[in-house]
Amino acid sequence: MRITIIGCGYVGLVTGGCLAAVGHHVTCVDNDAERIRALVAGQIPIYEPHLDELIARARSEGRIEFTGNLSGAIEAAEAIFICVGTPPLDNGEADLSAIDAVARVIATESRGSKLVIEKSTVPVRTGEQLRRALEVYGRAGKAKFEVVSNPEFLREGSSVLDFLHPDRIVVGVEEPAAADKMREIYRPILERKFACPVHSGGCPQGAPPQFFVTTINSSELIKHACNSFLALKISYANQLADLCERLGADVEEVTRAMGMDPRIGPQFLNAGIGFGGFCFPKDIQAFYRLAERAGMDFMLLQEAERINKDRIDHFVEKVKRSLWVLKGKQVGVLGLAFKPNTDDIRFAPALEILRRLLAEGASVRAYDPQGMKKTQAQFPTVTYCRDPYEVAAGADAVLLLTEWPEFRELDWQRVHNQMVRPLVLDGRNLLNPRRMRDLGFEYHSIGRPD
Ligand code: UGA
Repeated sequence: MRITIIGCGYVGLVTGGCLAAVGHHVTCVDNDAERIRALVAGQIPIYEPHLDELIARARSEGRIEFTGNLSGAIEAAEAIFICVGTPPLDNGEADLSAIDAVARVIATESRGSKLVIEKSTVPVRTGEQLRRALEVYGRAGKAKFEVVSNPEFLREGSSVLDFLHPDRIVVGVEEPAAADKMREIYRPILERKFACPVHSGGCPQGAPPQFFVTTINSSELIKHACNSFLALKISYANQLADLCERLGADVEEVTRAMGMDPRIGPQFLNAGIGFGGFCFPKDIQAFYRLAERAGMDFMLLQEAERINKDRIDHFVEKVKRSLWVLKGKQVGVLGLAFKPNTDDIRFAPALEILRRLLAEGASVRAYDPQGMKKTQAQFPTVTYCRDPYEVAAGADAVLLLTEWPEFRELDWQRVHNQMVRPLVLDGRNLLNPRRMRDLGFEYHSIGRPD
């Protein structure tokens, strides 16, 4: 099928790259001329595992192209995925102006029949507004639109895998015919009939993906409901961790046993310095505002958000308890990105901690495998190091703020030898407390006995 992707951000590129990889002909369009120039030149503007190989291969096979020509891209498409950003407004609601602008162009430039698919995360009833905009601005009779909601459940850092091997594909439609077209788009993934660019034949053989058809309103709600629930789960684990610290229990033992109950499940119960990124913090707020507009006080969400914000205070307090005075101390930071396997630092808890350390007068040396370039622009006074050992050199403390697996594999004896004071505060419970103590570290983590 001929598919156009509008918006070459993270979701657009992963969607476009993966749909091309399973055999569709994809045109990706963006109004950022610089971004399109880079993509045309073969550069992928984000770090996402497997994405560059996937796009390079699709390009060499003539199945993906990048352009700034929105009208041309719309005209050629049978299906249009809207993947533009919906950033938060000051009041926490989602800014839908990019969706509105795109809808107007689709309306005026389309001829024939088009499937218009919301992939961006949007509040419930955006589909209704989208349909209205397409009708109001469309040239009567020249185009027929079917609006579909198709939320994405991609996790940064593993989004290519998530797209190609999903547990479910949710489509919200008005007419069954639109669901049939969506099933056609996803058929190679549903039937697992594509040359997997990641596993080269040895794909994991779990249960096949579910294709779940709903109304548009339900589908839009599902996305916010999932993200908010996962955020609640994390905040629950974090409060539990605080209680464990007070009562001398170990949060990892508690959550592991909880996760053995299939009704609870083991994922998203890792306690730490809280959730960040561009999804949970903004989605939980947008969902809260949406409920408020519908006349409901969804307090549970507000509480989860409050608990998450408190994680930073809680951790900085821990640092201060160990170091006493921060002014004049040299603090090493390992990890800046909001999670491993990404260069994304948006709403990263590490950055808020960095800000506090600098405000208190500490001097900071930092390392992150992917996130340093972006952090440098915001924090020019931090010393960015070539590796974790440089971070440790002369440090009064090392803080572990993102759980990159390579930090677990460090030569911690070497780290110990480099430090002025062998103090490690692990904000992600990545390291083994006993091993760290055996190496002679003063080691503190989250919700585990010191
Ligand atoms: C999240 C969802 O997991 C995806 O399903 C969704 O599609 C995506 O948002 C989106 O809306 O686009 P993502 O933000 O990439 O994905 O990252 P997650 O893996 O969900 O992690 C979010 C944050 O929670 C990270 O800061 C992570 O460190 C933190 N986290 C996660 C914890 O603190 N504890 C956990 O147990 C799990």
